[in-house]
Amino acid sequence: MAAIRETWDSRTAFVLAAIGSAIGLGNIWRFPYVTYENGGGAFLVAYFICLFIAGIPLLMLEFSIGHKFQQASPGSFRKITPRLEWFGWFAAGVGFIIVTYYAIIMAWSMNYTYEAATLGWEQEEGVYADAQYAIAETGLEDMAVLTQIPDSLVGRSFVSPVTAQPCVICADPVSGTSSYGTILVAFGGYLYGFETVDDANAFMGSPGDFFFNDFLGVTSEPWDMGDFKWPLFIGFSLAWIWIVASVWKGTKTVSKVVYFTVLIPWGLLLLFVIRGLTLSGAGKGLEFYLTPVWSNLMNGKLWLAAISQVFFSLSVGFAIMIAYGSFLPKKTNIAANAMIIGVADAMTAFFGGLAVFSALGHHAESLGVPVSQVVSSGPGLAFVAYPHIITQLPGARIFGVLFFLMLLTLAVDSAFSLLEAVTASVKDKWNTSHKKANLIVGGLAFLLGIPMLTGMGIHILDIADHFMNSFGLTLVVLGEVLIIGWGTGAEEQRQYINRNSSFSIGVWWNLCVRWIIPMGILWMIFSEIQDRALPYGSFALRSQEFLFGWLLIILLPVVGDLLASARGRGEGL
Ligand code: PHE
Repeated sequence: MAAIRETWDSRTAFVLAAIGSAIGLGNIWRFPYVTYENGGGAFLVAYFICLFIAGIPLLMLEFSIGHKFQQASPGSFRKITPRLEWFGWFAAGVGFIIVTYYAIIMAWSMNYTYEAATLGWEQEEGVYADAQYAIAETGLEDMAVLTQIPDSLVGRSFVSPVTAQPCVICADPVSGTSSYGTILVAFGGYLYGFETVDDANAFMGSPGDFFFNDFLGVTSEPWDMGDFKWPLFIGFSLAWIWIVASVWKGTKTVSKVVYFTVLIPWGLLLLFVIRGLTLSGAGKGLEFYLTPVWSNLMNGKLWLAAISQVFFSLSVGFAIMIAYGSFLPKKTNIAANAMIIGVADAMTAFFGGLAVFSALGHHAESLGVPVSQVVSSGPGLAFVAYPHIITQLPGARIFGVLFFLMLLTLAVDSAFSLLEAVTASVKDKWNTSHKKANLIVGGLAFLLGIPMLTGMGIHILDIADHFMNSFGLTLVVLGEVLIIGWGTGAEEQRQYINRNSSFSIGVWWNLCVRWIIPMGILWMIFSEIQDRALPYGSFALRSQEFLFGWLLIILLPVVGDLLASARGRGEGL
């Protein structure tokens, strides 16, 4: 007789674990920024529509696959037909690549918790900028000169009207920021212009310089290693110990850990929302965040941004929710759980936006500039602008430490869910003990992460992140909806979900899985192929980077196929 599969301690434990995987950095920095970029309120509407027609139906699909086959992703697809096992490994592989760099972001947060306690980033000297010059040179119209540095400007020298020093415009963000006295600030691949020197300093000068230059030691080329950052290695090791310990005995440990790693960041987020809303100028930020530009709803890019944000944020397409679904007890409530998890994730993102934008509003007010000038995205927001803002306020150190503690506790359950999805796959196939599988998978991911502790780390992270989210995740989701929606049958799956739920979902679900989601995905893939920009905008992708990215995507199914053909020892093999 087959061994009884491990299960969650309780329904709450499962719901919290899935929420924990879903909420992460995506809710705190990605969501607010994407919302802002796409016209505030209008984006929120698109986001909620995508949540209900794509995100939640997919969650139901993934939970039901795991629940039905009682296996993690490779085993589940093997049970559909052995010829599909490779696909299950492909999904797990995408998750595996992600955890290698997710742990790096956790390492940054670990070390920044310490930097916050000592206010490390405030001790650097600033950079100078003058928008007048930037505007004259670039022909851009407003003060927030946010554009890729034009080639024609690179290398040009001039005398700064601010400091009367000779300056050169650099294409390289790092050396650009370090040549003090530069009027145009070349930073993160963008050109920034500010009205006054103080504005430039106050906004991003010192903390940004600290993050990219001192802390990460970013190199100007993606393949130029730079220095190995030993302090980061310490944070990285601690992060991995924490991740592995949280899943040490599988669902037994996770079921206990999630009470802390979900409830603590929620509590902290609430604190930051209250803190933000009570600041002067908060209203300005919120207006900026929430005022809808309705005409944007006609823009295809907005829908694209909404659907990819929903997938990323719900952690669907990474084999996680299949594994988590496989640990559900026989009697469960798939549809209701998926609803709760989807809505909780969206609400967390919404609150993340409230916290971030109220603080940005306050900052804009104190600088006397419009909110549009203080917004930056990606690591810029979480590691540069926001920490800088909170540390200008009373109680700087404590709020700084709490902020990074929030990021860490948010990120850890996303990281361990990725690890658990792969571990469970290995365990299902080879019948290895949980601890052994954990150490092998975690150890391998740890080793692969080490090169990202050098000056080229953020470049590699960027490329991997871009390719995994644009093509890895999308191909997995596409495969799932084609296999179930068109292969084994959406109707059969829907009835399975309904048999295991407190309420019935209608035939609309079949429509979503067979038509809406595949169409949306195909559209995403095509527009990504056309779009060469990197998410953090640090540099344009060249052929080497493309090669690296595509190699990752191509290698995954190949490795998946190898693993699928390897002899297993698990149940039914
Ligand atoms: N959903 C997580 C977030 O919002 C990110 C994540 C993606 C986690 C994929 C795990 C897997 O940050």
